[in-house]
Amino acid sequence: MTAAWRALAPGDLAAVARIAAQVHPNYPERPEIFAERLALFPAGCFLLVDAQGQACGYALSHPGTLGAPPPLDSLLGALPAAADCLYLHDIALLPAARGAGAPAALLTLLRPLARSLALPRLALVAVNGSADYWRGHGFAEVDAGVGSYGEGCVYLVAVTLEPVPSP
Ligand SMILES: CC(C)(COP(=O)(O)OP(=O)(O)OC[C@H]1O[C@@H](n2cnc3c(N)ncnc32)[C@H](O)[C@@H]1OP(=O)(O)O)[C@@H](O)C(=O)NCCC(=O)NCCS
Repeated sequence: MTAAWRALAPGDLAAVARIAAQVHPNYPERPEIFAERLALFPAGCFLLVDAQGQACGYALSHPGTLGAPPPLDSLLGALPAAADCLYLHDIALLPAARGAGAPAALLTLLRPLARSLALPRLALVAVNGSADYWRGHGFAEVDAGVGSYGEGCVYLVAVTLEPVPSP
């Protein structure tokens, strides 16, 4: 399937909730969670649309704090004042949209976004046994709790900016 990421808009939130309900039955979140992420950080929120313009996936990211993934289904209130990573809160693709490299295409959007904000890392909680998948995209496990995500989930981080060597 040919699909492309575009900026998420408020009018897409019903589609996001629909996809989330189908893809993430074990990690339910209230619609206001998606709406708040979009309101707080629209630059990090994307919709995947197929060749017919139909929504077939979404991705939500926002500046975050390394080692402190927000609990599932929790409002942020505000972005962290001293963010040090771009946190990929969620990526969910309908089955028909999988296998075509959409996550890699998303990472080509998120890496420069993180760099433009001087955020040196991407971070995520791998669910559904996807840790090895993300390792294949340059992520590595770091020691951090995954809180409400529960057993089998793994906190992973990828570098977007190398530290500047001291003179
Ligand atoms: C995880 C997900 C985003 C990957 O998207 P995708 O389009 O399938 O990924 P790609 O096209 O880059 O890669 C496809 C390959 O990754 C593998 N893969 C996909 N999801 C995987 C997973 N959870 N665990 C292990 N391998 C996985 C596929 O089997 C496929 O392998 P192949 O090329 O050997 O056939 C997508 O499967 C999805 O939305 N899953 C449900 C929601 C979810 O688990 N989100 C992850 C949140 S951390």
